[in-house]
Amino acid sequence: MASLASFFCSMSMIFLFAAPGRGTKNCFIDSIYSFGDSIADTGNLLRQGAVGIFAPIGRFPYGKTMNNATGRCSDGLLMIDYFALNLNLPLVDPYLLEGADFRSGVNFAVAGSTALDSSFFLQRSIVTPVANKPLKCSRKLEHALILMGEIGGNDYNNAFFQGTSIDSVKSFVPQVVDRIVSAAKEVIDAGAVQLVIPGNFPIGCMPSYLTMFYSSNPSDYDDNNCLKDYNSFAMYHNEQLQAATEKLRQSYPKVALMYADYYQAFMYLLNNAAKLGFDKDSVHEACCGAGGTYNFDIKLMCGLPGTSTCSDPTKYISWDGIHLTQEAYKTMAQALIMQGFAFPNHNIHNQWKC
Ligand SMILES: *[C@@H]1O[C@H](CO)[C@@H](O)[C@H](O)[C@H]1NC(C)=O
Repeated sequence: MASLASFFCSMSMIFLFAAPGRGTKNCFIDSIYSFGDSIADTGNLLRQGAVGIFAPIGRFPYGKTMNNATGRCSDGLLMIDYFALNLNLPLVDPYLLEGADFRSGVNFAVAGSTALDSSFFLQRSIVTPVANKPLKCSRKLEHALILMGEIGGNDYNNAFFQGTSIDSVKSFVPQVVDRIVSAAKEVIDAGAVQLVIPGNFPIGCMPSYLTMFYSSNPSDYDDNNCLKDYNSFAMYHNEQLQAATEKLRQSYPKVALMYADYYQAFMYLLNNAAKLGFDKDSVHEACCGAGGTYNFDIKLMCGLPGTSTCSDPTKYISWDGIHLTQEAYKTMAQALIMQGFAFPNHNIHNQWKC
């Protein structure tokens, strides 16, 4: 059975071919370092002080399924947790956890953080809830897996939710992509050789977007009842990110740079929802919310008085309208690891097959 470890082992072999002198002992991962936002935050924002839409993340129903409100933006575990479990590593402790054990890596992801710093948005009158502090790590990175993202989603969410048009948000995609790739480059220059760079989700399928940009025109929706224009926007970001990632691969041929296709992994989940055990009639509804077509209200986020939680979160894809349930993250993580949604660069595979 495929696993993240064996995937990286085969990647290492692919790159060993191009890089003689590196032993097969490189072929394991003993730690995970993660940079990103609420998709991967396992408790940093909670320790920094969660306010605004994130205020409820430190109490139930957040964490309900794992019986601990750890600051994860879900009812339970996130994709990064399943990546760690798949590599037989302990769950990655947040950087701000007192007494954390960093031997197996560090999670720097902070919910709400953006790829671009707040000055970029201040010039454009867009408010960013959390400033993104770049953090350097000095630990030996040779056996580390670097999860560089997902990041950038909030750059766009903040702008869209504050009324910025798709065309103007498109104009800062290159800067967001550049920021992600520069961060990856920095970590590579610090010694990292195995990186995962995830793309954005199909945001037009999220209860938050479906609610905020509700349209009475059926032609605004695709076959999955998702908002076409917002999904196209996410694809636009993802294409640019993949192109920039490919360029980075060419500059660093010995580095295993994997693109994690969160977009397609989510679409797989959506298209196979019933088969995968989800309630097919609730694929666009948040499990936890204040009611309405998509059970989402940005002013009444999950956890606030007046909201309620579905009786079985395992039947739902969306947890709070913005973030996914543990069950959805688990399914996506498995799809990424097992089904080729992570780094599906078959050309490179074929070219380098030895
Ligand atoms: C809940 O999580 C925190 C850190 O994330 C941990 O310190 C604590 O021991 C956990 N509590 C339980 C009951 O597992």
